[in-house]
Amino acid sequence: MKKLSSIFIIFLLISCQVNEEVREQVGAMGDEAMVVSAHPIATKAGLEILRKGGNVFDAAVTTHFMLAVVYPRAGNIGGGGFAVIRTNDGETACLDFREKAPLRASEKMYQDQNGEVIPQKSQLGHYAVGVPGSVAGIWELHQKYGTKDWGLLVQPAIDVAFDGFAITADEAATLNEKQGDFIAANHYRPWVINDDGWKAGDLVIQKQLAATLSFIRDSGKDGFYKGIVADQIAKEMLRGGGLISEQDLESYEAKWRTPVTGSYKGHKVISMSPPSSGGVALIQMLQGAEMHSLGDHPHNSIPAVHLMAEIERLVFADRARHLGDPDFADIPVATLISTDYNTIRFSNINPSKATASQEVFAGEVELVESMETTHYSIVDPFGNAIAITTTLNGNYGSKVVVEGAGFFLNNEMDDFSSKPGAPDMFGSITGKNNAIAPQKRMVSSMTPTIVEKDGALKMVVGTPGGPTIITSVFQTIINVIDHDMSMQDAVTAKKTHHQWQPDRILVEEGALTTSQMDELKDMGHNIEMRDKIGRTDCILVTNDGRLEGGADYTRGDDYAEGF
Ligand code: DON
Repeated sequence: MKKLSSIFIIFLLISCQVNEEVREQVGAMGDEAMVVSAHPIATKAGLEILRKGGNVFDAAVTTHFMLAVVYPRAGNIGGGGFAVIRTNDGETACLDFREKAPLRASEKMYQDQNGEVIPQKSQLGHYAVGVPGSVAGIWELHQKYGTKDWGLLVQPAIDVAFDGFAITADEAATLNEKQGDFIAANHYRPWVINDDGWKAGDLVIQKQLAATLSFIRDSGKDGFYKGIVADQIAKEMLRGGGLISEQDLESYEAKWRTPVTGSYKGHKVISMSPPSSGGVALIQMLQGAEMHSLGDHPHNSIPAVHLMAEIERLVFADRARHLGDPDFADIPVATLISTDYNTIRFSNINPSKATASQEVFAGEVELVESMETTHYSIVDPFGNAIAITTTLNGNYGSKVVVEGAGFFLNNEMDDFSSKPGAPDMFGSITGKNNAIAPQKRMVSSMTPTIVEKDGALKMVVGTPGGPTIITSVFQTIINVIDHDMSMQDAVTAKKTHHQWQPDRILVEEGALTTSQMDELKDMGHNIEMRDKIGRTDCILVTNDGRLEGGADYTRGDDYAEGF
């Protein structure tokens, strides 16, 4: 009897452990609303707006400006981004608030007299900055769909900027890593420079940013693009040899675009259209996946990783050649997402051998900037959904902090093709459709995406990560639809990535075993390790109609909460 009961206790302990594991793999749950973002303070601020009866657009205003305060490396007012939305009556739309090249920009501005690309010129300092789009974008979203008072929605960010907040260990480490760049890019000492080094728990007070946000609170878009803040930006540009003028700022406008849509195994996929390459590439990849029954192979098995790499290679080659700003070049979107085109495009994939990426463009990059853009997903009690990906491009963008205004400016100009064949900071190559021209928008990989099933909302997905954005969103969708993962598992699952050039599969630590990687090498693949791929923050409508938030807390400080 004694023996039996101890066996029973052991069984109980084991089953508790198993349950514990299972429970950990399900994200935050909500019955009506959910916010998932890169920082708990931003998630909670957005959720508070929903609790007070605001909709996703109201919550996005608060979350966005809060991220600009508490997540300075990527949350921003000096950058740009894209929003994909779905209202509760099934209307879908997308908003482009991507940065633009300044009026004084020119095609060869990052080349020397011999036509060589000048290292770092499009990445560090004033000359790398594109005309910011974020404030215009968030303002436009609110103008069209917001229900709560704009000023009340901006105020929480002002309060945190003014009173201060404690930085996380991750933020401290990233700030410390970039000290040299902050010193190089600024002619004065902005708050980010700290000779003693940053540590977790340090209080960051940003009074200048609070003042800038209060201009935005009081005057909306004009509080940024006109008046004192515009003047501060223009002066900062003059001091540091940047190109953005007051005219650039005043003429900036966010643009509504038609989302690209596709299907995957009975689901409708709604994603960002050009100038982002994300939606087109995602839809192409999903078509390749369906055609080759990718989802029938176990997650991260050799056939799955091989097939994904082959599909991604072909799609990124298309991206390099065709994608650009649709206001400046004809982008063959309809063809690229058509089944006729993709059936032929993916027809020659060899299941047992890697194809060598064609040597159309030469060039490899040594440095891959760490993964910092940011994505947030929100669903409200009315059934509206929004996916927003926003960025300064690299960590803390150009590293320039506008003097007196306290915010970082982007280094998005690096996303243009500085010269045909020259890779950007992510090693990614684009062609003449993405050459620099005044007022043009640079190609992006950002892929805010909404998935529907049977005409109802199913998933809200997105991530940072440069080109790995597209492949991380691709894998996250497949993880849920084919591998039946919870939202949290799909987010946490280890990722791989191929982008045609450089010709290698990036493998996240822990995604594959050594013998799997050896086998892939035998098939002709090159393998390179990365400590992290993607940082997806997503929402799933579960089969019983609840909301599961998957926050990428294993790769960052990301946090989901619902009610
Ligand atoms: O628009 C793009 O594709 C890039 N500027 C995104 C940069 C990014 O995701 C940085 N890191 N995670």
